[in-house]
Amino acid sequence: MKVTLVGSGYVGLVTGACFAEKGHDVVCVDNDAKKIAILQSGRLPIYEPGLEEMVKRNTAAGRLRFTSSTAEGVEHGQMVFIAVPTPPLDDGSVDLSFIEAVARAIADSLKKYTVIVDKSTVPVKTGEKVAETIRRYNKHKADFDVVSNPEFLREGSAIEDLMNPDRIVIGVMSPRPAPLLRELYAPFACPNFIVTDINSAELIKHASNSFLALKISYANALAEICEKSGANIEEVVNGMGFDKRIGRAFLNAGPGYGGSCFPKDIAAFIKIADQLGCDFRLLREVQKINASALDRCYQKLRQELWVLKGKTVGILGLAFKPNTDDIRQSPAISLASRLLAEGVRLRAYDPKAMEKAREVLREAIFGSNPYEVAEGCDALLFMTEWDEFRGLDLARLRAAMLHPFVLDARNLFDPAAMASAGIRYRSVGR
Ligand SMILES: NC(=O)c1ccc[n+]([C@@H]2O[C@H](COP(=O)([O-])OP(=O)(O)OC[C@H]3O[C@@H](n4cnc5c(N)ncnc54)[C@H](O)[C@@H]3O)[C@@H](O)[C@H]2O)c1
Repeated sequence: MKVTLVGSGYVGLVTGACFAEKGHDVVCVDNDAKKIAILQSGRLPIYEPGLEEMVKRNTAAGRLRFTSSTAEGVEHGQMVFIAVPTPPLDDGSVDLSFIEAVARAIADSLKKYTVIVDKSTVPVKTGEKVAETIRRYNKHKADFDVVSNPEFLREGSAIEDLMNPDRIVIGVMSPRPAPLLRELYAPFACPNFIVTDINSAELIKHASNSFLALKISYANALAEICEKSGANIEEVVNGMGFDKRIGRAFLNAGPGYGGSCFPKDIAAFIKIADQLGCDFRLLREVQKINASALDRCYQKLRQELWVLKGKTVGILGLAFKPNTDDIRQSPAISLASRLLAEGVRLRAYDPKAMEKAREVLREAIFGSNPYEVAEGCDALLFMTEWDEFRGLDLARLRAAMLHPFVLDARNLFDPAAMASAGIRYRSVGR
């Protein structure tokens, strides 16, 4: 099938590549000419495991192309996906100007029946507004349907998530477009293809992300109780996780959730509820617990080092999670910025995110590996659970440090192993 993605970022590019991989004929559009030039030259503007090979394979096979022209994309696609940003405004509500701009650009070039599919995360009722906008600016009076198809991929495992989805949600305003979407997704053999009304589909996305964030905050609240009671958070969440009604996923205590989705989606959902006259107090509490999880990391560092100004601190892990170079709303970056503002001499390393981090942590010194970062440090902080950190030589780290203190915000290490390496060690909830 002929498919177009408008917006070629984490969602649009990976989705486009996966559609092409399944044999569809795909055009990816982006209004960032630099991004399109990079893609056309065979390189990638983002890191995602397996993506480079997949993009190369499909461009070579002629199933995947890139353009900065929305008109060209609209002309190509039987289905045009919208995958542009929906960033937060200052009050937490969603900036829908990117969505509106794309809706207008589509309306301008629409000449044949087209299914316009919103993949961006949007407030409930946005689909209705998109349809209204396209109707209003529909220059050639073309026939169309608007569908919601929220995306559940996780950065770092986006290809795996898209190729083997646990559910595909399609929200429609009439039954007409559903068979086309079914055909598009048939090669993905998804066990749960769910067709709902458009408002419910939009809500499913915000409801899901908020629930996952709630689970993380629950674990972080428990971690505080564990620290004060002498219990061990790992034992507690493992014990809870065997209950099928609860599940072990998203119960890891840490420095709080981050990334480009959870913080903004929770803030948006609170605002959406607010505008509907519902006070979502539960989610306000989730936000507070999340902020305090990061603050407790900072306080642990202060308790150990007393005065932070002039101290040398190394941060290992800058991406908001492993296997990505994405640093948007990363707890590591927030903490690093706070430390820099207090006069800390910051050293840092991340396997994939250093290029992006350099742009925001301008005063930091970046090392080419964890041992180099540890050199002369008064404290070393593990902020992202990259696998390559698990096998580090602790004795070598200790030897490099001025004062051997490790703050492990991800519970990557065995406290006993740290003790026998002669490292003072604090983690989360144990
Ligand atoms: N990143 C994730 O893990 C994830 C997961 C699920 C859903 N989402 C949602 O998907 C949407 C996109 O997120 P993302 O992470 O891919 O964002 P992104 O910033 O990585 O990519 C968006 C792309 O859209 C382009 N763009 C903006 N305006 C445009 C226009 N008028 N025409 C063409 N291109 C335009 C930008 O240049 C950018 O390349 C958001 O609503 C987000 O909440 C993201």
